[in-house]
Amino acid sequence: MKMEFEKLNYPSNLLEGKTIVISGAGSGIGRQIARTYAEFGADLILLSKSIEKLESIYEEINQITSSSVIIQPIDYKTADEKNYREIVEAIKEEYSRIDGLVNNAGILGEKKPLEQYSYSVWKDVLKVNLDASFLLTKNLIPLLRESSSSSIIFTSSGVGRKGRAYWGAYSISKFATEAMMQILFDELQNTTLIRVNCINPGAVRTKMRESAYPAENPENNPSAIEIMNPYLYLMSDLSKDISGQSIDAQAH
Ligand SMILES: NC(=O)c1ccc[n+]([C@@H]2O[C@H](COP(=O)([O-])OP(=O)(O)OC[C@H]3O[C@@H](n4cnc5c(N)ncnc54)[C@H](OP(=O)(O)O)[C@@H]3O)[C@@H](O)[C@H]2O)c1
Repeated sequence: MKMEFEKLNYPSNLLEGKTIVISGAGSGIGRQIARTYAEFGADLILLSKSIEKLESIYEEINQITSSSVIIQPIDYKTADEKNYREIVEAIKEEYSRIDGLVNNAGILGEKKPLEQYSYSVWKDVLKVNLDASFLLTKNLIPLLRESSSSSIIFTSSGVGRKGRAYWGAYSISKFATEAMMQILFDELQNTTLIRVNCINPGAVRTKMRESAYPAENPENNPSAIEIMNPYLYLMSDLSKDISGQSIDAQAH
């Protein structure tokens, strides 16, 4: 689905009153989502692997907004469901509801033919890219149900819609992410006010993109700030009627 996001002008209080959980908020696209959502008035719960990166985005947001920010490190490669439940219990002590969840964290794994693909890398990629989204979403749905307008955003990819040689577990995790979004849409659409959508960011200038395309000039790709409009739109009440969609952040 393509939308003309760049033509939209959003008011600065677009996300005021909303509390949003963002995974992979320490770097790249997730870090920019955190900053942007705070600038538009949201309170945030930020998850990432590195405590140092979380502390640095916490400081950055504190300097520019009065948003409340909670940071919580978690390593999805080693976490089990108990760790996710503990995070949700800690959130419940602060908030009686949440209004949004962005499942953004991801790793590339290795670019090799499936015949040579390491099973250990396969398991890591699926844990970070797929299991983490499932476990966060599953355990946060009760809090998302308490909101009168809540939104879950999953992060897809071009290789989550059409398989491509050497993209292995990464591509498969993104196909599965699209499936998870569609299944949730079907399950939630008639019984809750929760909407669920996927965003495919397209090529964005981050560490992951650089390791996927080492020969590419990074300056040729947009920075994360340039793709924020769909993230704002889908998290705001402007998208109250949009659910079950897979959206391209960049029109081609
Ligand atoms: N960049 C692109 O061109 C592009 C294109 C299509 C799709 N995407 C998708 O967009 C999303 C963000 O990608 P990006 O380019 O921003 O990548 P990135 O710069 O490498 O950032 C990845 C994020 O995931 C977190 N993460 C990685 N491993 C983790 C683990 N074991 N436990 C917890 N968190 C972990 C990282 O945490 P720390 O920072 O704390 O280490 C980081 O915040 C991914 O889902 C990716 O697949 C990106």
